[in-house]
Amino acid sequence: MKILVVGSGGREHALAWKLAQSDRIQTVYVAPGNGGTSLDGRLQNVDISDPAWLAQFAIKEGVALTVVGPEVPLAAGIVNLFRDQGLKIFGPTKEAAQLESSKDFAKAFMKRHNIPTADYQTFSDVQEARRYISEKGAPIVIKADGLAAGKGVVVAMSLEEAHAAVDMMLSDNKLGDAGARVVIEEFLAGEEASFIVMVDGKNVLPLATSQDHKRLKDNDEGPNTGGMGAYSPAPIVTPSLHARIMREIITPTVQGMSKDGIPFSGFLYAGLMIDDKGNPKTLEFNCRMGDPETQPIMARLKTDLVTVMEHAVNGTLDQVELEWDRRTALGVVMAADGYPDAPRKGDVITGIPAETAECVTFHAGTTVKDGKLTTSGGRVLCVVGLGDSVKMAQKHAYEAVDQIRFDGAQFRRDIGWRALKRPA
Ligand code: AMP
Ligand code: GLY
Repeated sequence: MKILVVGSGGREHALAWKLAQSDRIQTVYVAPGNGGTSLDGRLQNVDISDPAWLAQFAIKEGVALTVVGPEVPLAAGIVNLFRDQGLKIFGPTKEAAQLESSKDFAKAFMKRHNIPTADYQTFSDVQEARRYISEKGAPIVIKADGLAAGKGVVVAMSLEEAHAAVDMMLSDNKLGDAGARVVIEEFLAGEEASFIVMVDGKNVLPLATSQDHKRLKDNDEGPNTGGMGAYSPAPIVTPSLHARIMREIITPTVQGMSKDGIPFSGFLYAGLMIDDKGNPKTLEFNCRMGDPETQPIMARLKTDLVTVMEHAVNGTLDQVELEWDRRTALGVVMAADGYPDAPRKGDVITGIPAETAECVTFHAGTTVKDGKLTTSGGRVLCVVGLGDSVKMAQKHAYEAVDQIRFDGAQFRRDIGWRALKRPA
């Protein structure tokens, strides 16, 4: 069987790596892929990004099903386009992807269906937005309505910061159309967790829990990034909290989308804030898997992912049970010099150790140039260690990180600190 994975990041490398482990696989194509997927003999990069051309490619090559990694092609309607041509594809339609591509859509949806989330209002007028902020006070959170590649959220600790954020989005148009409307919402305190499920329109299959580290530097300092590391499972999500998240957030979301006439299929990622009493609220929805959460999650998945994907595109996820490696998987992102603002490209990467049962390195911003593996993006690698404890997983990941070299590499030394801090 041939499968196509759309995207070029660490998430897509991990998905393709897992799919390729199936006995039933002939080829896993990755479009466009990266240096790591090009070096893996079981994967084949395809240099096509345009969804219409990709659909032609899928028809010509007899691709049995397509899995989409990033949100941008989903929001642009790649699923609608593939389905119109009779192709099987796992992901939400353009309409359902609004759960991620419009914060206002997501907030109105949650309000309508009583899904716990921060109080909010949406604005396109800068004076009204400023007035609302002054009335509510700080801290307060300003979010661009549209997709802004991780740059659309400002957690403002002061009124000045909040006013500057709405000015940046509404007056100065710094985020273009994405910032033409802003959601202003209540600040939530607590600990974040990533709750990711697979949905086939009706049935829900939860994946292992995970937690990511958004700030660039140790101790959660420095600027926000796409994610500097992640681990699975997330001990904060106890079995009873898991049941509650399913009951109060995931099930009403999937049923609500169906009731609203836009059934959701694909990966559904709820970014949660869990307060000190253990109550979960939804910070955001993503209509895709997380990056870097996918890397440790795929490292733990034992079930054949090809079979799971078939059930997902055929609407029979209720017939699947997932088996997980009981160990912890912990992924450390190695990022380029200058990330996140202006990542430098073209640095030669050496020393990536061969995959073992305790460690696997997924590529993101890498490419092969003149026979050399070089950096080509912000997040370069995600090194995943596995171990019987968080500490062991961390040890295995950092042993590999310490062997890898490229100029200007940035990475955190403390991935997993929240889990280590929790009493066993
Ligand atoms: P989002 O893209 O909506 O998840 O926001 C990005 C990050 O901003 C989240 O991972 C949180 O760290 C933070 N954040 C978003 N919304 C809130 C909120 N209402 N209260 C506190 N922090 C938030
Ligand atoms: N790691 C956060 C995200 O994928 O959005």
